[in-house]
Amino acid sequence: MDNLRVLILAAGKSTRMKSKYAKVLHRAGGCTLIEHVVSTARGVSPDIFVVVGHSADQVKTAVSAATFVDQKEQLGTGHAVIAARDSFSGYSGDVLVMPGDVPLVTTGTLERFIRFHREGGYQASVLTAEIDNPAGYGRIVRGNNQALDSIVEHRDASPDILKIHEINSGIYVFNAPVLFESLSRLRTDNAQKEFYLTDAIAILAGQKHKVGAFKAESAEEILGINTRQELAAVDQILRRRKCASLMAEGVTIVDPASTYIDADVRIGPDTIIYPSVQIYGPSVIGEDVTIHSFSRISNSRIGDRCTVLEGCVIVDTVAAEDVSLGPYAHVRMGATLAAKVKVGNFVEIKKSTLGSGTKSMHLAYLGDATIGKDVNIGAGVITCNYDGVNKHPTVVEDGAFVGTDSQLIAPVRIGKNSYVAAGSSVTDDVPPDSLAIARGRQVVKENWVKDRKKK
Ligand code: UD1
Ligand code: CA
Repeated sequence: MDNLRVLILAAGKSTRMKSKYAKVLHRAGGCTLIEHVVSTARGVSPDIFVVVGHSADQVKTAVSAATFVDQKEQLGTGHAVIAARDSFSGYSGDVLVMPGDVPLVTTGTLERFIRFHREGGYQASVLTAEIDNPAGYGRIVRGNNQALDSIVEHRDASPDILKIHEINSGIYVFNAPVLFESLSRLRTDNAQKEFYLTDAIAILAGQKHKVGAFKAESAEEILGINTRQELAAVDQILRRRKCASLMAEGVTIVDPASTYIDADVRIGPDTIIYPSVQIYGPSVIGEDVTIHSFSRISNSRIGDRCTVLEGCVIVDTVAAEDVSLGPYAHVRMGATLAAKVKVGNFVEIKKSTLGSGTKSMHLAYLGDATIGKDVNIGAGVITCNYDGVNKHPTVVEDGAFVGTDSQLIAPVRIGKNSYVAAGSSVTDDVPPDSLAIARGRQVVKENWVKDRKKK
């Protein structure tokens, strides 16, 4: 919107969270609280200012493309806005002030609120909500004709005021010069001995400035986070929203309540997600994929028609179409699986590439390996990729068959179409079209048991 800047207050500590990290760095729905607020704010204005103090460097890293204002000491929300005074000198437009801990508010609500402020000709407006349990929030006190009179903090409120259920969201629009003028009158004669931004409302109302209160349609949107319980509640709401939008786009989610999908995940239609699945980071899941229970997929791409069976952990992996994984597969660190690969029970794949049609169905470890097409990796095959100091590569060429319980001691290469006999410890390269047997020969001592008993 024109003639609008956003000022986000994010310098506070997290006393009530009992955390050493700034509150706005805690995560819900897959991103930090400050990322949620900044991305919503960008929907109304590109001119974003963020007041930082506690964990300032980390907050700056979490947010990109904003102007940062340092609040060296945290003496209250009013003090945080005063810290931004110089950045706003010479600016005469509107400023949308937001706390960094209200991640659920939507751009639509902000737009309606700003329109209310402008169309009503207010100098200051506050976004409010009616909530069942207003404990902890500032209360909206209205005077004659319901006009906004002041905001009273919970800790400073009389029993009568505590009965008010209309609360301050901490989101305001001010005419910038009027705001900064009022802040020079703030005092700290309150329960927290802080400069309260909320007091600007009573100051401006007392000076006969036009101040307004706009009630949000959804109380849920203005939930602020001050405790770990509230963080969990907001996380649940964000995940519910994500599941709802995926279902609207054609994804079946059998049990949304137990499904955890980050905001940036994309999933194609007709994919089915069973209960207790977690999909994190910027993962992309194709169409007609089936993901069974208790699997976690992070930062990975899973192609169309893949099946992920129960209990898989898939991290930083790319799987092409028609790949089958699990149950209980662990695939990680840049693993790349071509079309129709099958990775089965208790198989770990690290930093390895498997060509199309290749199978490793049972109990294997493939690390730092390049495996060609249509290779069969038998049960219990292990790449011995680490010598205690360095990691070494293993190459298995197209069409090779590596027998059960073999160890491939890297660096080593198994040639095209070759066989490795079961139970081999392969230390030397195997040329194409060959059979390698690398194990002790079986010795059978007939009647050994009977002979021993006779002694
Ligand atoms: C504030 C409001 C309260 C409102 C509630 C809504 C005041 C005095 N109270 O209370 O009326 O109902 O938000 O969620 O404003 N911050 C700074 N510097 C500071 C202090 C705070 O940047 O010195 C930042 C915090 O990082 C936070 C935001 O301001 O993002 C709000 O501070 P917080 O302590 O959470 O205020 P509340 O007690 O929740
Ligand atoms: Ca708060």
